Amino acid sequence: MTSDFTLEKFSQNPFYQEVNRRLVALAKLRPGQRVVDLGAGTGAVTRLLVAEMANGGSLPVGQGAEVIAVEPSETATEVARRNLENIGDAVVRFVQGGAERFSQLVRKPVDAVFFCNAIHLVKEKAAVVQEAYRSLREGGTFSFNTSFFQGAEPPESFQFYRRWMMKALRNLREKEGLFPDRAQRALARQPLSREEYIALVEANGFHVRENEVVPVPMTLKGFEDISEYSLFIEGAMPGVPLESASKALKYGARGAFEELGLETSPRNWLLVVASKE
Ligand SMILES: C[S@@+](CC[C@H](N)C(=O)[O-])C[C@H]1O[C@@H](n2cnc3c(N)ncnc32)[C@H](O)[C@@H]1O
Repeated sequence: MTSDFTLEKFSQNPFYQEVNRRLVALAKLRPGQRVVDLGAGTGAVTRLLVAEMANGGSLPVGQGAEVIAVEPSETATEVARRNLENIGDAVVRFVQGGAERFSQLVRKPVDAVFFCNAIHLVKEKAAVVQEAYRSLREGGTFSFNTSFFQGAEPPESFQFYRRWMMKALRNLREKEGLFPDRAQRALARQPLSREEYIALVEANGFHVRENEVVPVPMTLKGFEDISEYSLFIEGAMPGVPLESASKALKYGARGAFEELGLETSPRNWLLVVASKE
């Protein structure tokens, strides 16, 4: 198991790379642009952005091109720096900070802002959208994706999720005598729907150019890997030490896949590209 509980292992899964690549393609970047990657984490999307602006590697970035990776977690940024240090001529700049106030941290205006797999984590979503608007040039794009929105779990996956959590909670209780904090679990916020996300960006001046719900077949490895990510673990099992909760979640996922005879379990991703017009 990774000791730092970052998203690193999960982010290598082909289904995850694919859904992020799709969002980047929808944004239609051009070589030489300046792009912000909010909540860059360990750099999975940062790398895709660099590749896109370097025309699949055939064109050196430089000549004004820049990817600014903004991330509050120092641990994740350290991993991202290591992951991206051999990326050739690419210009990646790392900035520590949150998405709610990032416009002070970048030289404006930028051509595109991405916020991948993170917008659901932020309470002040309108502040992020306003900051993106403030930072972009006319015609620039704000793109985000998330697999935590109302409708992310298709009905055919309900049985799997119920079985996964039941098995994980039982394992945690029987092996470690531990329980998640019920009060914190009850406080978990209801995620926004696709329509609410669209209304949010439109209310802040953007025109929604693309919005898609993409079904992603998630493998057992995907569920085991997400069970090693701190923010996911804390959401699923608040108050439980990460190591114990992670072990129980992985045990539960394996058991549920086996009992239900699954090869994959579907999850929906919402992809939105909005432009400043
Ligand atoms: C699931 S990871 C996604 C990483 C990467 N963008 C990707 O798509 O693979 C979520 C990231 O959002 C970051 N994050 C959490 N709250 C944030 C905030 N308020 N502003 C910016 N990033 C935030 C976390 O530290 C984490 O690195």
